[in-house]
Parts: sequence; structure tokens; C-alpha cells
Amino acid sequence: GKSLVVAIDGPSGSGKSSVSKEVARRLKLAYLDTGAMYRALTWFCLQNGMDLEDRAAVEAASKALPLEVSTSPQEEYVRVGGDDVTLAIREPAISAAVSAVATTLGARTELIRRQRELIEKHHRRMVVEGRDITTVVAPGAEVRMLLTASEEARLRRRGIQLGGSQNAEQLAAQVTRRDAKDSTVVNFTTAADGVVTLDSSDLDFDETVQAALDIVDTVI
Ligand code: C5P
Repeated sequence: GKSLVVAIDGPSGSGKSSVSKEVARRLKLAYLDTGAMYRALTWFCLQNGMDLEDRAAVEAASKALPLEVSTSPQEEYVRVGGDDVTLAIREPAISAAVSAVATTLGARTELIRRQRELIEKHHRRMVVEGRDITTVVAPGAEVRMLLTASEEARLRRRGIQLGGSQNAEQLAAQVTRRDAKDSTVVNFTTAADGVVTLDSSDLDFDETVQAALDIVDTVI
């Protein structure tokens, strides 16, 4: 079919992953969670006892990373070598460490190269979500959107996601800290030229998916 890359960026807790996955299912497109790649690299570095502040070592690790990630919205898996790290990369220790890895420019270059390769491999028919997809990874995407939500809505969703077991203030500080650190290398808080903003603060999941599909419809 015709090439259809749907690039979706946004901060953590915007509901990006679940919305992107559902949009891919409905449009019968492949799906790539680029955040999972940064998380897998972080897992790999920590597994090897590396100092995450050692930029040269993190860059070298990114090139050596034996990564395999699902490109199907029906099935979620992330493997590093022989290890299935699908669940491990969602652990708080990874969330706390991932920004250090993601702000290593050499590592970004390598992961961006792999992301572009995966898009091509799927004949440019893919929903790709992350922080820099609309601006860096696939600025030529047919559809580019920024999924936002008020801080209140995002924290509420995060809380639900983590089971509400952690102290809310601690959680809020953690998420805010990660977004602030990530923002030093990628801008995902304001929409670049030609990028459509979808504010999901007052929408439920189905409404957000429908709004995203409507944006795809108006663009293609
Ligand atoms: O989307 P998720 O919260 O799983 O992403 C984890 C981390 O990966 C982000 O906090 C950010 O540091 C990094 N990331 C990135 N660029 C992307 C996707 C994720 O820097 N395109």
C-alpha cells in the first residue's frame, strides 16, 4: 500500500502508548514504541554495571545492543540478546535512569538510525511513538501529532498505571524530573510547524483514539 507513517510524540503519561497502539490496530499498520528502545538500552547498560554518565561507554553500548522489539500492535515484547526484558524495562529503576541514557547524543544517533531502518523495513506503513518522531526521526511522516494532556490528567493516569501504591507527591516529582531532563535534548512540549496538537485532558481513551483517527483522516 501507500506509505503512511503516523508520528506521535508526547510527554510521559499522555496516554501515548495505548492510544498509538490502538490507532495502529485500527489502521492495520505496524507499530513502534521508541521509548522501549531507550529503556532496553538502559537495562543493558545497568546489567553490564556501566556508569551511565560515561557517554562514550553508553554510545558504544548502543551500537552493540542486541535488541529485538515488536513492531506489531497485537503483541508486545522487547528482547536483549536471550533475555525477554518486556517487563523489566518498566521497572521504576529503569524509568529513573533512562534520561541519562537518552541524553547521550551518540546513543540517540544509533537508536534513531535503527528506528528509521524499522520504518523502511515496514515500507513506511507504521505508527511510531516517542519524543522526537515528528521532528527528528520521521519529519516527513504523512501524519504528525503531539499528544498532550494537562499535568493533572497525566499524573492521574500515571498513578493509575502504577497501581496507586506510591506516594502521589513522590510520583509527581519523579515524572516531572524525567520530563525536565528529557526536555534538555528533545522538545516534546510544543508542536513544531505542521504538527497537530491533540489535547486529551478532557477525553477518555476511546475519544482520544477517535480524535487521533480523525486527524489521520483529514491529513491523508
Ligand atoms: O515513552 P517512555 O516513557 O517509555 O520513554 C522512556 C524514555 O525514553 C523517555 O523518558 C526519554 O528519556 C526516552 N525517549 C527519548 N526519545 C524517544 C522516546 C523515548 O528520548 N523518542
